[in-house]
Amino acid sequence: MPTPSIPSSNLSQAIAANRSYSVQDWQKGYQSLTSEQDYWIDEVQGTIPADLEGTLFRNGPGQLEIHGQPLQHPFDGDGMISSIAISQGRAYFRNRFVRTQGFIEEQAAGKVLYRGTFGTQKPGGWVANAFDFRLKNIANTQVIYWGGKLLALWEAAEPHRLDPHTLDTLGLEYFDGALKPGQSFAAHPWIDPSCDRYGGEPCLVNFAVRPEGRSTQITIYELNTAGQVTWERSQSVPGFAFIHDFAITPDYCIFFQNPVDFNLVPFALGFRGAAECITFQTQKPTQAILIPRHSDRPMQTLAIPAGFVFHYANAFQDGDHLVMDSICYADFPTVEPNQDFRQTDFDRLPAGQLWRFRMQPASGTIQRQLIDERCCEFPTLHPDYVGRPYRYAYLAAAHHPTGNAPLQAIAKVDLETGDRHLWSAAPRGFTSEPVFVPKSPRTSSSREDAGWLLTLVFDAEQERSHLVILDAEDLGRGAIADLWLKHSIPYGLHGTFTPHYFGPASFPMAL
Ligand code: CO
Repeated sequence: MPTPSIPSSNLSQAIAANRSYSVQDWQKGYQSLTSEQDYWIDEVQGTIPADLEGTLFRNGPGQLEIHGQPLQHPFDGDGMISSIAISQGRAYFRNRFVRTQGFIEEQAAGKVLYRGTFGTQKPGGWVANAFDFRLKNIANTQVIYWGGKLLALWEAAEPHRLDPHTLDTLGLEYFDGALKPGQSFAAHPWIDPSCDRYGGEPCLVNFAVRPEGRSTQITIYELNTAGQVTWERSQSVPGFAFIHDFAITPDYCIFFQNPVDFNLVPFALGFRGAAECITFQTQKPTQAILIPRHSDRPMQTLAIPAGFVFHYANAFQDGDHLVMDSICYADFPTVEPNQDFRQTDFDRLPAGQLWRFRMQPASGTIQRQLIDERCCEFPTLHPDYVGRPYRYAYLAAAHHPTGNAPLQAIAKVDLETGDRHLWSAAPRGFTSEPVFVPKSPRTSSSREDAGWLLTLVFDAEQERSHLVILDAEDLGRGAIADLWLKHSIPYGLHGTFTPHYFGPASFPMAL
């Protein structure tokens, strides 16, 4: 059972230098879910909050092998969407693989037909893989409900549209022609909660990255609440760019161009996957790219000390400064060819840590500060504070306050006072990205932390996953509700919550 929340200072004394996990337990979380299921979740400990109404969608690789051939890396896994629809204290689970073209073809062929970006190769050695540059759109990174459409996202290709009730795949989404076949739509959209441009209505902001020889084109898209692309800007930046995520403020889109090089040769010759050909250039700075929104003002770049970033917690404008909170790694967590990802040695890899960057565009200066040493990933916040000054960040985090380790806890960081709180599922539980759902009713006097945190936890003892609902105001309350699934779900990537309930219309008898 998860341990109760303990302030991190006590926690560090309590567990001293002992490991909070066993590698064998962590490895069990990479078990494929081959079946597709639909059922009411009957095993609930605690009480689902009465005001929690809507659907949690999550995306991630569903299978870690294809017809018996193990994937080189979980990021090569076919996207599988899980939904947990919650209403009146009941919850309904459903999972479906996204029927991408590659998934359908490989299911029919009974073998791997496409090279994976992260090193999975077709059978037959390098000869069978050389000069095969086809991309398999695996739709495995994020899933969002926007403009009446449920979209499974993968950063290097078009979105797949799904039926939000059944999770059936409906096809590729081009937003009425705003996206052209072959163009991409990143897996990290933000919802700007209030845009002047749309009369105070929210809009969705996302981007696409396209290599152009020795430079990279970044395109920014804004979608109104009807799901139409209403604003677009393309910008060319020098060099190769590996950009997974970005941040927004009312006036800017902010990208960090990590200092990496891409060596095409081993990929082209069939020896390595594309991501295995990325090398981190420690001697070069990261470029912060500031692209103004809703204006023709030129972009600006600022050089900052190197570090590798996948994810951003938030950004906001503070007078003439821009503040950006990011999870930074001292080095790119290199993908090693011919190594089983389950054999990861956490002690040898850099830990992700929460850093704050204060940039002054006028002077070109940047200051950075380590906010928390604890290993963490998957930051989130109250959706009303996206792009605005905010106080609380929530993260999936390691149990131990120092060192690199699997994610076993949920951390709440008070960015004003420096207070931290932790809810931990150690020693046998492994957490995923927390999703923040504001409590209802929302009023102008609601606290910023008035919300529920939803996180899917893999329990190695039962070899099952469960959805844990925490009270963001007080992690010390422990799990408000524990919703046990009948099976495990492989460690996933990202998810979102919509207040629309997409479960069955009729409810079963009360428990
Ligand atoms: Co991501």
